[in-house]
Amino acid sequence: MVRRFKVVRPRSVGVTTTRMGPFFTVASVELGNTTTKCIISTTNLKTAEIFQIAKEVRFTRDVRPPKAGESVFGETLVGIGLTRESVKELVSDIIRSVVTTAGMDISLDLHFAVRSTGVTAGFSHPDDVGEMVKALAEGCLAAGIPPRKMTASLSPENLPPQFQDFTWLRRVYFDGAITSSLPPADANIVGNEMEGELVTAGIKGAAKSTDIDFRNPVMTLDFGTTLAGRVTDDSFPYSRTIGSFVGLAGAIPDALVSGSRLVPINNATALDIGNKSRNLSVDIPDSVVDEVHSLIRVEVLGKGIDRYGTVPVNVSAAAESEVTIIGVDVGRNGSDLPLLEKKGLEVTNEFGADGLISTIDLVQSRLVSRLVSVAEENGLVLNDTSLGLTGRAITTGRKPLLVATDLSTSSGTAWATSHQLIFVEDGLAFGAAVAARCMNSLGTRHNPMGGRKGNKCIMGARMKLQRLDR
Ligand SMILES: Nc1ncnc2c1ncn2[C@@H]1O[C@H](COP(=O)(O)OP(=O)(O)O)[C@@H](O)[C@H]1O
Ligand SMILES: [Mg+2]
Repeated sequence: MVRRFKVVRPRSVGVTTTRMGPFFTVASVELGNTTTKCIISTTNLKTAEIFQIAKEVRFTRDVRPPKAGESVFGETLVGIGLTRESVKELVSDIIRSVVTTAGMDISLDLHFAVRSTGVTAGFSHPDDVGEMVKALAEGCLAAGIPPRKMTASLSPENLPPQFQDFTWLRRVYFDGAITSSLPPADANIVGNEMEGELVTAGIKGAAKSTDIDFRNPVMTLDFGTTLAGRVTDDSFPYSRTIGSFVGLAGAIPDALVSGSRLVPINNATALDIGNKSRNLSVDIPDSVVDEVHSLIRVEVLGKGIDRYGTVPVNVSAAAESEVTIIGVDVGRNGSDLPLLEKKGLEVTNEFGADGLISTIDLVQSRLVSRLVSVAEENGLVLNDTSLGLTGRAITTGRKPLLVATDLSTSSGTAWATSHQLIFVEDGLAFGAAVAARCMNSLGTRHNPMGGRKGNKCIMGARMKLQRLDR
């Protein structure tokens, strides 16, 4: 039986349309382990609908190598060295390119830029992400985006005139809550906190174009090369972050593909197989999926761990903030990925390329099931917790359908009949559009993204809270 679920893909709009109404346009610049993306989204402030204007995706592995004298501050999952200068060049180049393609004038048509990174493998501490964030900012500046378009406005006058009627900055200030979710007390619990925050906001924003009320409490999962995501509770007016996800996600199918020798390059990824043979379903015995999963660990992080599934974590800060971290790993920090590669070759030899793709879909769907059950066992899933998923390693192929069909709660009922389930493409870019609005208090009271499922807008409660705070 096909269960209830939605897949949200961004709708597109041209830049000329955005010049004719109150469209707030935001660039999301994201340096991922596998791909570096610049996606320009715009929100119609009258309706809160989000559209995509343009998008460019490049392989992060194509970043230029470090030059003599530059210091390498981090590296991607496959060991590509990154320097402040090389990141700056990559970022400014991709922004210029996408802006040109879209026919945009940065000074007129682009109102904000949000930058983020999922590259954390080469960092030793969550704080090191700061260096990357600086390099990304320098790239934005070099592309011609001024600093005021990268920070929260303190007063309506800092916004372009056409948006001043839409801002609530006269009533509330930006206190760090994005779509009414507060970050953990110590923001540096996991290296990918920023991604978790943005995808959570993005899935909430994307849900606005559906009939799903995707507000707190929620659980979000971003299946990029690495895993990110959050669990929020139903506190009012702001939810607390009670769970966070780290570790490997797309790296699992990538290992299966790279071992399969279907793509004759080093560091091949699932992305390299391309679009052909998608949506195929070769019958794969459960035992094959079991064997792959016997190599994968899904667990709550205990004491004394400083890196899990290649992502730096701070478990004592998490304990203090009462955040449960759930991680996915293959061996220790990916040490057993070679075993997965071997498995990829075996599966391909036995079931062919289509069989490998089918296996990957089943493996990823089962990974979602394992993550949800660990979250449930640890009390993170409430009766009305909604689940939102993004990232290519879960939104592609038959994975959404498989999750909708196979995911169930511990009591045995199908998730998609008892809880909401939504898939969003480019969740992080939606999140950049949403976060930029939150930072400038550009919300709508009649169509709120913040607050609890079923409740009305929390603006009144926020004003009260902030008055008490002063
Ligand atoms: N059809 C697919 N099946 C499984 N994984 C895929 C597929 N297409 C891409 N991926 C994997 O998804 C990950 C990239 O997802 P993306 O959301 O772009 O992540 P990132 O932000 O980390 O670059 C990579 O590991 C990539 O190989
Ligand atoms: Mg990503």
